[in-house]
Amino acid sequence: MRAVVYDRYGPPDVQRLDEVEEPVPKEKEVLVKVHATTVNRLDAATREANQRSGPAVSFLSRLVFGIRRPRQRILGSEFAGEVVGVGTAVREFAVGDHVFGITGLAFGAHAEFICVQQGSRMAHKPTGMSFEQAAALCDGALNALACLKQAHLRKGQTILIYGASGAMGTAGVQLAKYFGADVTAVCSTKNLELVRSLGADAVIDYTREDFTQNGQAYDVVFDAVGKHSFNRSRGSLKPGGSYLATDGLRNLGLVLWTALAGGKRVRFSVTSPIPTKKDVLFLKELVEAGRFRPVIDRSYPLQDVVEATRYVETEQKVGNVVLTV
Ligand SMILES: NC(=O)c1ccc[n+]([C@@H]2O[C@H](COP(=O)([O-])OP(=O)(O)OC[C@H]3O[C@@H](n4cnc5c(N)ncnc54)[C@H](OP(=O)(O)O)[C@@H]3O)[C@@H](O)[C@H]2O)c1
Repeated sequence: MRAVVYDRYGPPDVQRLDEVEEPVPKEKEVLVKVHATTVNRLDAATREANQRSGPAVSFLSRLVFGIRRPRQRILGSEFAGEVVGVGTAVREFAVGDHVFGITGLAFGAHAEFICVQQGSRMAHKPTGMSFEQAAALCDGALNALACLKQAHLRKGQTILIYGASGAMGTAGVQLAKYFGADVTAVCSTKNLELVRSLGADAVIDYTREDFTQNGQAYDVVFDAVGKHSFNRSRGSLKPGGSYLATDGLRNLGLVLWTALAGGKRVRFSVTSPIPTKKDVLFLKELVEAGRFRPVIDRSYPLQDVVEATRYVETEQKVGNVVLTV
């Protein structure tokens, strides 16, 4: 089968299309013919051994994914496609089913076929949704969901979402609205209409207004793009409010420190429980109820993975970048 592989850590062009062996499903596995996948920030960060995040994170990244070279040669954590084979113990899925899901750190979706455990984070594709849309459902949304759960976001609370136009941000706006919060979305001028259309009650254009200076205070400040900080947001939090971080090792220390000190808290996505199949099914229900839609910025054919990755690394994508297989 054709797959995008990489044999060393480095820039986007370490990836190349190659012929590899087609996987064979084990007893409890499903063989999926991938129709669409994505390039997300996890793919990009893993491919360069998280060098942008500094030597400590890069070392941890190599410990997990391979010290000298990547153990898993195929990236891609999100997929949508058709079941074309099942192991002998598979009951939940049958040949011909349309499915979507996320393999997370196991990757493997930048390929024509992938084997997925039936009990893992995979579900039947929501009715009426294209493979491209379904492929872009999980990563941003599951991460945003994990963050909002950490903050125990409730009906009537106020949340400010910084970086509201990214994969996590566009999902965060919709999920926070679903949980009944009053949502203020922060992004640049060109994305204001989009975040409004996702349900934001108020929008702030950060190129014209600094939210930390507007005298408002929120129950939660969600930095969905890892570009703000607890220190700068502190004055915009109500007493006992939470700052939700999605990037930056320094935030681990702040999680501990603010938990001990009491008052305003830092919560960090990396310390939240790993999303489950139940969360994937919850997303499917939201989509089918018309309460959630993944935002897709661009779609590339699989062979243009290098170009797609370069675009993701501009940190300017709006929502998600899809690869069609
Ligand atoms: N290290 C890892 O392994 C890893 C993996 C996955 C995710 N993450 C983290 O997860 C978070 C979310 O990732 P994502 O994929 O959702 O992000 P994303 O989709 O790449 O975010 C892109 C959006 O961020 C906005 N943006 C860019 N620079 C900004 C700035 N300086 N201030 C405010 N907004 C800015 C842009 O919109 P505007 O033009 O409107 O500003 C753009 O639409 C990030 O913190 C990321 O670092 C890390």
